[in-house]
Amino acid sequence: MNPKTTKVFITGTSRGLGKAIAQEFLDGGFSIVGISRSCSIEHPNYSHKYLDLSDIEKLRQFEFEIEDRQESIVLINNAGTLGEVKPFFSLKEETIIHSIQLNYTAPLILISKLYNATCNQRAKKFVLNIGTGAANRAMDGWSLYCSSKAALQMFDEVISKENKMHAKQLWNRNLKPGVIDTEMQSQIRESEERNFSSKQVFLDYFKNNDLQTAQQTARLILLNFNLLFAKMETIVSINDIKN
Ligand SMILES: NC(=O)c1ccc[n+]([C@@H]2O[C@H](COP(=O)([O-])OP(=O)(O)OC[C@H]3O[C@@H](n4cnc5c(N)ncnc54)[C@H](OP(=O)(O)O)[C@@H]3O)[C@@H](O)[C@H]2O)c1
Repeated sequence: MNPKTTKVFITGTSRGLGKAIAQEFLDGGFSIVGISRSCSIEHPNYSHKYLDLSDIEKLRQFEFEIEDRQESIVLINNAGTLGEVKPFFSLKEETIIHSIQLNYTAPLILISKLYNATCNQRAKKFVLNIGTGAANRAMDGWSLYCSSKAALQMFDEVISKENKMHAKQLWNRNLKPGVIDTEMQSQIRESEERNFSSKQVFLDYFKNNDLQTAQQTARLILLNFNLLFAKMETIVSINDIKN
């Protein structure tokens, strides 16, 4: 991908993995549009759209602005929430709606909008959805997180299948990024053990220095971006591109 003719949209760029991905791409000379409720990046090639992705009415008003001259367009659906770490039956309806909208509905709406905004353009479109190992592992206390990310993963599998049957509309991958030292991990370590039986596992990751930094993870994503879309299966683990 030529940075000069590629436009990159990333959700959740105010902190954590999304911010690190934005910074790596900016260092690589790409132009970035970040989307989240707050902004913490200042760079001549960075612009920010303030948007609560769990607010579906506001999300529906969002429009991708993409010039015709782009050769490649990238959408990285990274924003996500663990939600409240509690048993399902103690969660409020608002919490259920918020998590599902942010983790599942918003990425699909953005992908659909991206397609509709660019289907008449020649630019190649790449969608990277940030998944998680928890999409395939039932974790108590994480019912909304596991299930919304599992739904997103299945969506990616279906889109890949449809791409093989019809003319390819866009390239999509779902990446499990591994365990990363971000606020989401702090939230996990601060959860109550009675609500989350695996808490000690995550305390040990931290104690034993097993967490990747967001920057290391972002660098791997940028360095392997072409490989990710050219060679890998739809569902990719960070270990697949580490080696
Ligand atoms: N950290 C890990 O170990 C780990 C492991 C596996 C997968 N992941 C995945 O990696 C992705 C990034 O996680 P992270 O650890 O970097 O999380 P994080 O530190 O909590 O950051 C989350 C980002 O999402 C944005 N966001 C949250 N709610 C939003 C909303 N309603 N509307 C718009 N943006 C919103 C936040 O921005 P604002 O608050 O400014 O809106 C922030 O930039 C997530 O999809 C997560 O599931 C993380």
